[in-house]
Amino acid sequence: MNGLARSEQSAVRRIIIAGNWKMYKTQAEALEFLQAFLPQLSETPESRKVVLCAPFTTLSSLSKTLHGSRVRVGAQNIHWAKEGAFTGEISGAMLTEIGVRYVVVGHSERRQYFGETDETVNQRLLAAQSFGLLPILCVGESKQQRDAGETEAVISRQLERGLVGADQTNLVIAYEPIWAIGTGDTCAAEEANRVIGLIRSQLKDTDVPIQYGGSVKPENIDEIMAQPEIDGALVGGASLEAESFARIVNYQS
Ligand code: PGA
Repeated sequence: MNGLARSEQSAVRRIIIAGNWKMYKTQAEALEFLQAFLPQLSETPESRKVVLCAPFTTLSSLSKTLHGSRVRVGAQNIHWAKEGAFTGEISGAMLTEIGVRYVVVGHSERRQYFGETDETVNQRLLAAQSFGLLPILCVGESKQQRDAGETEAVISRQLERGLVGADQTNLVIAYEPIWAIGTGDTCAAEEANRVIGLIRSQLKDTDVPIQYGGSVKPENIDEIMAQPEIDGALVGGASLEAESFARIVNYQS
């Protein structure tokens, strides 16, 4: 970092606020959300990128409706093969054809409930990059791992294995402590800042945008974004409602 503290390098800070809708919203609900959400972006600073990572069935109409707007569309999964007999999976070509620009990989819910490993996460990340999609790589420790003092080791391993062969200049990382996801139990902003600083020190490109995720809401976004290492947020529950996601995107700096 040229010997400069991150806070002195604000020129390189790229802010990305992404909603992760998980398995919420039909197409009609997604479009209804946009009607209420888009008018609330008129004052949002241009430097903040806004992304909606939505269910597959909504991506095409979201991308058409958002054409020419500042909001980008993201998916929540991608398979590593170009095509093939992989029932239930989706390919990079299928996503880019409909205007998708980002894709979440390695979310803890995928790791926990759908058997994702660091190796499959890595394969998905490489596939995303090969199709020109920006992967949002999620890393984070469980409560048990945190209590056992393993946070740094767990994250370090997830990064090392998840980033094998990756282009570190085309990437977003989200630090999402599992115990803070969907629980209302946010990680203290200073602690998130500390862990994100550690993540940054492990990367070749220290300008990689690193988000915080886990119970981000209108009440805590200002404090989170005031931290010098934190370049944005990956927001689950609070991104489902237009008012609250708009308040998050329009955080006070
Ligand atoms: P949450 O989810 O904001 O509802 O805690 C975050 C995430 O899973 O990305």
